[in-house]
Amino acid sequence: MKTTVIDIDPENINEDAIRKAAILIRKGEVVAFPTETVYGLGANALDASAVHRIFEAKGRPSDNPLIVHICDISMLEEVAEHVPSKAHLLMERFWPGPLTIIMKKHKKIPYEVTAGLDTVGVRMPDHPIALALIRSAGVPLAAPSANISGRPSPTKPEHVIADMQGRIAAIIAGGTCKVGVESTVLDLSGDNPVLYRPGGITLEMIEGVIGKVDTAPGILKPVFAEGAVPSPGMKYKHYSPKARVIIVDGPIDRVIARIKKEADAYRQRGYNVGIMATEQTKAMYSEYMVIAVGDREKPETIAAALFDTLRLFDKAKADVVLAEAVDTNGVGLAIMNRMVRAAGFDIIHA
Ligand code: TXA
Ligand code: MG
Repeated sequence: MKTTVIDIDPENINEDAIRKAAILIRKGEVVAFPTETVYGLGANALDASAVHRIFEAKGRPSDNPLIVHICDISMLEEVAEHVPSKAHLLMERFWPGPLTIIMKKHKKIPYEVTAGLDTVGVRMPDHPIALALIRSAGVPLAAPSANISGRPSPTKPEHVIADMQGRIAAIIAGGTCKVGVESTVLDLSGDNPVLYRPGGITLEMIEGVIGKVDTAPGILKPVFAEGAVPSPGMKYKHYSPKARVIIVDGPIDRVIARIKKEADAYRQRGYNVGIMATEQTKAMYSEYMVIAVGDREKPETIAAALFDTLRLFDKAKADVVLAEAVDTNGVGLAIMNRMVRAAGFDIIHA
C-alpha cells in the first residue's frame, strides 16, 4: 500500500489537507494523526471493518480494546450508553486533554473497537489537528498509538513513518506531541473509579476532583495471574526499543555509582552500552554514551522525551540501556509505568 504523508502545521491548519485525510477516514481507511499525547492510528469507530484494519496495521492482539476519540461532548451520545456524574465532573475539568474515561458502551460502537467488552474508553484530545480531523470526518475515531505493537509510542512524524510506511493510507505529519506519554486511563464503569494507566492527568489531579481512586495492580509491577488483568493493555510487553533496558532505582548517588559499575561490566563483555540520565546527572557519565532524557525538577520534560530517547538508543545501536529511575509522584508515575515495561520489569535496586 502507498502511504501518503500529509504535512499540516498545527499552528496554521490547512483545511483542504484535513478534508483530504477525512475523506480517507470516511472511506474506511486508516490515517495516523497527532494528538497532544502520542500519534494515533485512526479509523471510523462506527465501522467494524475499518477498525479491523487498525489491528492489522499495528499487529495488535485482537483482545486489546481501542480508545474512541471525539471532538465535542455531543458526540459522546453515540459512543457511551451512560455517562456517570463523576465522568461529567472530570470531562468539565480535563477535556480536551489526556484523560480516557471508560464507560458503558453504546450499541453503535462495534465490539471490534472494545475487543468484545461492554465498556468503551473515550477521550477528547487537546490537539487542533486531531479535533479538526474528527470534526471534518464527522465520526468518532478509534485510535491506538501509531506504533507497531510492542514498540515505543510515536511522538514525532518520523517515528510514525518508520513504523507505518506501507501499512496505512495516510500519515498526517503535524509536529512533536507535547505530553509524550499516552493518556491516563480511568475506569468509571463500576462502583469505584479505578486507574488502569497513569498519564498526563495525574492520579492526584483526578482525586482532587472526584475523591479516592483505586489503582489497578500492575501499574509498576507485573501481573502474572490469568484473569487478574482488568485492562488488556496492561499484560503486553510494551514500549520496547531493540536494546535491553535495565532500570536502576535508589538514592541518586548510589544509582550513579551502580550504573557506572554495570556499564563497565557490560562494556568488558563487548556490549554497546547506553545510559539514560537526566540534566542533573549526565555530566557524571561523560565517558559513556549518555542521553539526558529531561530535567528531574520538571518531570513533564522527561515524559515528553521518553519514547523519542528510547528510539534514539536504537539508532545509536545500543545493546543495553541503563536508565535512572525517577520519583513516582505526579507525572512520574506515568514515566515509571512506561519505563518498567520498556525494561520488561528488569530493575536493580542500588
Ligand atoms: O493517549 C492515548 O491514549 C493514545 C492517543 C492516540 O490517544 N492512544 C493510546 O491507545 O494510547 P492504546 O491503544 O495504545 O492504549 C489504549 C489502552 C490500552 O491499554 C487498553 O487496554 C486500554 O486503553 N483500554 C481501552 N479501552 C478499554 C476498556 N474498555 N477497558 C479496559 N481498558 C481499555
Ligand atoms: Mg499503545
